[in-house]
Order: sequence, then structure tokens, then C-alpha cells
Amino acid sequence: MRIVNVVGARPNFVKIAPLIRAMTRRPAFVPTLVHTGQHYDASMSEQFFTDLEIRRPDFNLEVGSGSHAVQTAQVMHRLDPILEATRPDLVLVVGDVNSTLAATITAVKRSIPVAHVEAGLRSFDRSMPEEINRILTDAVADFLFVTEESGRENLLREGVDPAKIHFVGNVMIDALESSRRRWERSPIFEKLGVETNSPYALLTLHRPSNVDDPHKLAKFVEALETLARHIPIVFPVHPRVKQQLLRSGHGLAPRTDSVDLRRKAIAYVDPLGYLDFVALVSRARLVLTDSGGIQEEATVLGVPCLTLRDTTERPVTVTHGTNRLIGSAPDRILNEALQTLAQPPRRNGAPPLWDGHAAERIVEILNRTATRKD
Ligand code: UD1
Repeated sequence: MRIVNVVGARPNFVKIAPLIRAMTRRPAFVPTLVHTGQHYDASMSEQFFTDLEIRRPDFNLEVGSGSHAVQTAQVMHRLDPILEATRPDLVLVVGDVNSTLAATITAVKRSIPVAHVEAGLRSFDRSMPEEINRILTDAVADFLFVTEESGRENLLREGVDPAKIHFVGNVMIDALESSRRRWERSPIFEKLGVETNSPYALLTLHRPSNVDDPHKLAKFVEALETLARHIPIVFPVHPRVKQQLLRSGHGLAPRTDSVDLRRKAIAYVDPLGYLDFVALVSRARLVLTDSGGIQEEATVLGVPCLTLRDTTERPVTVTHGTNRLIGSAPDRILNEALQTLAQPPRRNGAPPLWDGHAAERIVEILNRTATRKD
């Protein structure tokens, strides 16, 4: 089975790592890896390939940044000749970024079946670019691999044939578990001057709805600076946010060395690699985030997570995990964070099938289908 696997952005790299590994273990699978180049900075891309031990991509489309239309169109334009030349039996896409949707459309227009890993998630907020990517990808994909029960329910409500839906668990957790021994040894704590058992919070922000309006971003930073007087905050700054902060005259100097967490302040650091980031999540007293995947990682690591959004497409992290949705009003962030710090963290079990074996299940299902066809 010749499978073209397409990735483009940071969270995609985490998801593809266990899948490529599981495919490589089976002689019947011939995986090709295409990197669209949506993320291209070394810290946003290459570092993830190194940390997750992903082999070099067979093709890099080097599409770079651009408007959503241009980015999506460039992926389609540059992927199409590769699909024509390689004639795969299947195109596999993960997550919900622009590269996911672009690869899906390109494949279905060539009548190549598509497998979508992390299908069915819905925030029900169509102002999120990812929600549009999810709905459109799921509408035309042939294999829909879901991470949680809500994924199945959403797809059935949208009229998807139940035979296409497979509840397999979460490949992000496969990546987390298989690299555990390596992230547990990460040198990031010494680098940041984090002493053993000294509490800190970890913050990530990058959603356009939170960071693109300079006024809103400034209010956020103000609230977080107040919170940092109670607990130091490590803030790896996404390039999109860095641009916004610099544009608005914020005198920030992200760096990954010589950060002194004993100063009660926000430590702005450059984007971190996978192993360093997960290590920091694992020992954090509190995670504040607007990312999707981090809600899941915090859940499995038993770290209290406050999500700075009104909706989540991953409700299992709220019902089974440590996640709470607190919106993005600055006062509320401060109050909720202080309340969380005042309570002892409570550990929950992992959601169903988040056991480190999702990629094997996916590959087994694909293998069975291929065998049936032969
Ligand atoms: C993208 C995904 C988002 C995902 C996030 C993870 C879409 C619509 N969004 O958002 O779902 O959660 O990745 O990080 O696909 N930039 C750099 N270097 C890079 C990459 C980006 O400087 O390597 C800058 C560029 O100025 C770019 C901006 O960041 O315009 C945003 O990048 P883009 O890929 O468009 O979206 P993200 O915000 O990263």
C-alpha cells in the first residue's frame, strides 16, 4: 500500500511521527512523506523532526506563509504533480491546518482515497479557520479516524456513513508516551533556571482571535503580568505573536537561555522543541493555552489546564481531563488562575484509548482494507 503522508505545521509533525513508525514496521506499507513547508523556521519545523525522530521528508513543497487562500492554493498546486507521479493508493492527512485541507482536496480531485487522522472534532465556531478545515476535510475523506467519542457523534450528525468512522484513540498521546524517556531528561529546566519543585505556569497563545487585535493582546499581557507576580510564567512565543508584540511596541526579547524564573515575571522565550515543551508541561503547576493539542497533553500529564477560549473541539479533555474553558476576558483569566493555584491539582485517568497505541490501530485498519481488496 503506497501512502502519501502530508504534514505542514507543528502539530502535524507530532501526529505523523508514530504513524510513519507504525507503517515502516509493516513491509506491505510504502510510506512517502511530504512536508508542505507551511511551517519553516528551524524551531517550528526541523527541531520537531529531530525530537520526534521523523525521517527526512521525501518532498518539501516550501509553500511558506501567505493568506489562507494563497497557502492552500500553493499546497494544491505543488502537491498535485507529486500525486500524479507517485500514484499512491491513499493520501493520509492529520489535524486541521490549511495543509490538511489542501492535501485532501488535491487527492480527492485525483480520485485518490483520503484518510483523516483526528477527524470529527468540532468547536462549532466557524470563525476558526481550523473548523472550516475540519468540516471540509471530513466531508470528502474515506477513512475517518477519531480520537474521542464526540468525533463519532459529530460525524454521524453530519450524515457520514458509519462504516467510514473508526474510533482509534489519539496519536498525539502515542508520541508523548514513546518519547517519554527522552523528554524526562530534557535540559530545559537548567536552561531556564527552574529549580526542582519550584512552581511555574506555562503559557501558549497563537489563535488569531486572541492575538491579532493589538488592543486585546495588550490586555491579555497585562492580566498575565499581574498573574506572574503570583507565579512565574514561561511563555514560548509563537512567531505570529512575536510579530504582533513587536508591532505594538512591546519591548520583548524572547530567548531560551539566561531566563531567571526567580524573577516574578513572564519569561518570554523562543518557540521550544517538542521534548523541551512536553517536559515543561509535565512539571507545570498550571497550563494556560489557546492551543488544541496542549489541552490533550495536559490532560494525560495530569496538569491543570485553563483554555483561553469559549469553545473546545476536544470536549473529552473537559469531561475526563484537567481542562477548563475560561474564555479570554483578562479579569476572568486572573481569577480562575488564582483559584486553580489555591486548589491541589487533581489527577484524572486518560480518556478511552489514549494509551499510546492509536497509530498501530490505524495501520491495522488500513492493512485490513487493503488485504480485503486484494
Ligand atoms: C497554524 C495552524 C493552526 C495551528 C498552528 C500551530 C492554520 C490555519 N493554522 O497556525 O491551526 O494550531 O499552525 O502552530 O493552518 N511563521 C513564521 N515561521 C514559521 C511559521 C509561521 O514566522 O515557521 C509566521 C508567519 O508570519 C505566518 C504566521 O507565523 O504568517 C502564521 O503562520 P501560519 O502557518 O499561517 O499559521 P499559524 O498561526 O502558525
